[in-house]
Amino acid sequence: MTHRELFVTTALPYANGPLHIGHVMEYIQADIWVRYQRLRGATVHFVGADDAHGAPIMIAAEKAGKTPRQYVAEIAASRRQYLDGFFLSFDHWHSTDSPENTELSQEIYRRLRARELIATRTIEQFYDPVKGMFLPDRYIRGECPRCGAADQYGDSCEVCGAVYAPTELKHPRSALSGATPEVRASEHHFFRLSDSRCREFLRGWIQGGRLQPEVANKAREWLDGEQELADWDISRDAPYFGIPIPDAPGKYFYVWLDAPIGYLASLKAYCARRQLDFEAVLRNPRTEQIHFIGKDIIYFHTLFWPAMLEFAGPPFKVPDRVNVHGFITVSGEKMSKSRGTGIDPLRYLALGMNPEWLRYYIAAKLNAHVEDVDFNPDDFLQRVNSDLIGKYVNIASRAATFLTRHFDGRTTNLQNAADRLPPVLRQQPDTLGQEIAQAYEDREFGKAIRIAMAYADEVNTYFDAAKPWELAKKLGQGSAGEDARRLQEICSVTLRGFQYLTLWLKPVLPRLAEDAESFLGCGPMRWESSLPPLERIAPYRHLMARVEETQIDALFTPPALAGSGAALTTVTPTKEMKVSSPENSPAPAPANGTAAPQPAAPAPVSIDDFGKIELRIARIVNAEPVEGAEKLLRLTVDIGEARPRNVFAGIKSAYQPEQLIGKLTVVVANLAPRKMKFGISEAMVLAASHEDQKANPGLFLLEPHAGAQPGMRVR
Ligand code: 2FM
Ligand code: ZN
Repeated sequence: MTHRELFVTTALPYANGPLHIGHVMEYIQADIWVRYQRLRGATVHFVGADDAHGAPIMIAAEKAGKTPRQYVAEIAASRRQYLDGFFLSFDHWHSTDSPENTELSQEIYRRLRARELIATRTIEQFYDPVKGMFLPDRYIRGECPRCGAADQYGDSCEVCGAVYAPTELKHPRSALSGATPEVRASEHHFFRLSDSRCREFLRGWIQGGRLQPEVANKAREWLDGEQELADWDISRDAPYFGIPIPDAPGKYFYVWLDAPIGYLASLKAYCARRQLDFEAVLRNPRTEQIHFIGKDIIYFHTLFWPAMLEFAGPPFKVPDRVNVHGFITVSGEKMSKSRGTGIDPLRYLALGMNPEWLRYYIAAKLNAHVEDVDFNPDDFLQRVNSDLIGKYVNIASRAATFLTRHFDGRTTNLQNAADRLPPVLRQQPDTLGQEIAQAYEDREFGKAIRIAMAYADEVNTYFDAAKPWELAKKLGQGSAGEDARRLQEICSVTLRGFQYLTLWLKPVLPRLAEDAESFLGCGPMRWESSLPPLERIAPYRHLMARVEETQIDALFTPPALAGSGAALTTVTPTKEMKVSSPENSPAPAPANGTAAPQPAAPAPVSIDDFGKIELRIARIVNAEPVEGAEKLLRLTVDIGEARPRNVFAGIKSAYQPEQLIGKLTVVVANLAPRKMKFGISEAMVLAASHEDQKANPGLFLLEPHAGAQPGMRVR
């Protein structure tokens, strides 16, 4: 086979928050593929970086009282623990806010301009006169021009689903300052994707077998569908955290222009570190450029990115593959990009959960299609404990015991025993090895795992049928000769099977494989046709612990709650809202709406006590019923943070969910998160109700006067 040279990337995460399980899933997928290629002897340059630019990061930094550079540097410093923690073997991790990226982005832009693929046009946009900046759509709020719903985003209405230009909003205001924005004209730079040269090139590129069929179809639809392909607005006006556009004072590249170029910047920095010639790597016709991405960013990677590279010209080359994966859901629940969900990767590690459990589980569920992967706690426990440990890891301990006890760890020379070998070792491993190799190559990891586990079943069946424990018993009673030879051979055959499995699972389980290799005494294995022979094994030491149910429980309990027993009460206490340790509640909740004795008027509190309660304005961005809960609505509330919060409120009797969407209200923001049957409640909404609720069941959410903004403190 010819030597492969691979330049592999994963999508660059925005540097405005921690990595979530979706990022980790993508990196694990790419890492497994990369490790498989390295085992086959390929040269791989596997790089990542932070996506550091853009308005949201600039604004988040300002809110945090930091410069954007300080802000993204702190985020960057937190990445290592994820990468090391999950055995992600990136060769280099960089940032789009780097000299390499500035130079490459400006160079690529200049080349596109020289080929007349850059145009300038004047466009009208909302400008915040208080902040002194043009407003990105998501920072403009107002009434929906179609249905009149209050407090909608600048590009679409969450109530009626209408899509519009921000300038169409009624009573628009800036989400940053609250000011009424002005319409101002500004010159923008466009990449002329609609140019016939781009379209023609893309038609060929999309057809070139570089994309999964479903992805190619999507790209084709965008390219030649009913809606005409639009030019791409690649500039933003100062103030902007980004890369200056050459010869255009006050103009910066839009973050999505310099983000993919960040792949090249990371490779360049890596090459400098390793004293490789960056341009030579790219110019090498054998180098394959391969991107792993999620399904939400297909447009950027199948239209803009290849076209930019093609027309920038050598040494830049177009991607050879774009591998797209689906999202990860947790127990069937979707995860939002900014919020993450369910599983916090660092918490997973902090709980001492083995990263290879997750790698194995994700691998077992991945295939080459753009399908979502569900993390299901019961399924996770089952697959790790019953398959990974029960079928594969345990083989080693079963066979090792006899070899160590009776033969000082020495194995039979199976080459001499070739004519006696059982089917489990005859030819079969070679065939299976090839099938597994192909499955890794094709990113059909679930298939690779299935083949390996079926083989593990066979090895176990062989071992059980041979009943080595009976031979061992005879040996204990003084028998020797043939019985001893048989016993040693059975265990050696079994461990040989284990050795094959170890190699086949090595891309997924790198640390376990390393431990197994030292146990087997066979040195680091590569993906070669013949495995190193076994001679003498080390005494067996536990290779992997089982997942405990308590660990899974802890994983889904937020740290604020874990072990503390939250002290909470709610606006409208219901049975469904009962807290996990009600004895700690200052005001015990009357169960299920039955009339409770009226509490005496609370004692006065000091202003300092009142100040401990963090009340904030919240915008209800979504409201929906909760299956199985009579009285609850699940609210998603924006309180001006990077991600909205999830709140369960016992207000279903008083409101239809659609009535609430878009409304402002007041929440207690610093209540310890509360784990409920349906999920975690991360704040509490405030509502007024009659003292005698039974007689007067009305319930009224608080709503601020016009002008209040999500995140404002109420005091
Ligand atoms: O969607 C995102 O999270 C982007 N930060 C991905 C960028 S991928 C690449 F183009 F840099
Ligand atoms: Zn609307």
